[in-house]
Amino acid sequence: MGIEGDGGQSGEQDQNPFGLSHQEYWDLLSPEERMMQFDEYGLYALTPRCFSEPILEHIQGNVVVDACCSVGGMTIPMAQSGKHVIAIELDPHRLELAKKNAEIFGVQDRITFISGDVLEEIPKLSADTIFFDGQWVGQSTEEGQLFTLSDFSPNGKDFLTQCFKIAKCVIFRVPANFDFSELEQFPYQYRKEPTVVDGETVAYTVYWENVSGVGV
Ligand SMILES: C[S@@+](CC[C@H](N)C(=O)[O-])C[C@H]1O[C@@H](n2cnc3c(N)ncnc32)[C@H](O)[C@@H]1O
Repeated sequence: MGIEGDGGQSGEQDQNPFGLSHQEYWDLLSPEERMMQFDEYGLYALTPRCFSEPILEHIQGNVVVDACCSVGGMTIPMAQSGKHVIAIELDPHRLELAKKNAEIFGVQDRITFISGDVLEEIPKLSADTIFFDGQWVGQSTEEGQLFTLSDFSPNGKDFLTQCFKIAKCVIFRVPANFDFSELEQFPYQYRKEPTVVDGETVAYTVYWENVSGVGV
């Protein structure tokens, strides 16, 4: 069952464990994903396979950091695609759920889990690609308000600055109302791909695929 404490042992569940307010997120999940363990936020924030598959194609190299891994919505498909994943998460309970999910999918040997703050951990690491899907904690993601780098946890400007010193490829998930003019402060070209659900753009994935600041 896809709820805490059951370990996915009882197989796919048709029912969303967190009620109607989370039904739209549950409906996006495949039967396999419904076997995962979630807390409420972990389900809401999960990157479903239908979103993650196009992103996986653009991951470079063998070593990938999943900077804010939550319950492992990206960590697991990355590991299944043959990458070694360094998965970092601030919330220790959510990291434990990610570990259990890795076991459910049999990919735990391809993942190094780190409990901590990515701003402290990332300077200690080297990686080919960093995937950054931070928590959207600031302004509303409602239309009409622009979402800025400082509205992420960790702070998007601070974290991206560190990423560009470490990896050649940086991939960043942002809400649909993100203020893209903020990315002009970085001297690297990016491209963006929309994530569309029922004809509506719900998020973007931003790709820097040839960062030259590595090791600076
Ligand atoms: C949007 S969720 C990531 C969802 C994940 N990509 C998935 O598909 O399951 C963001 C996560 O970032 C974590 N987080 C926030 N600030 C952090 C920090 N400074 N260091 C590490 N993790 C952080 C939150 O606890 C949350 O679980």
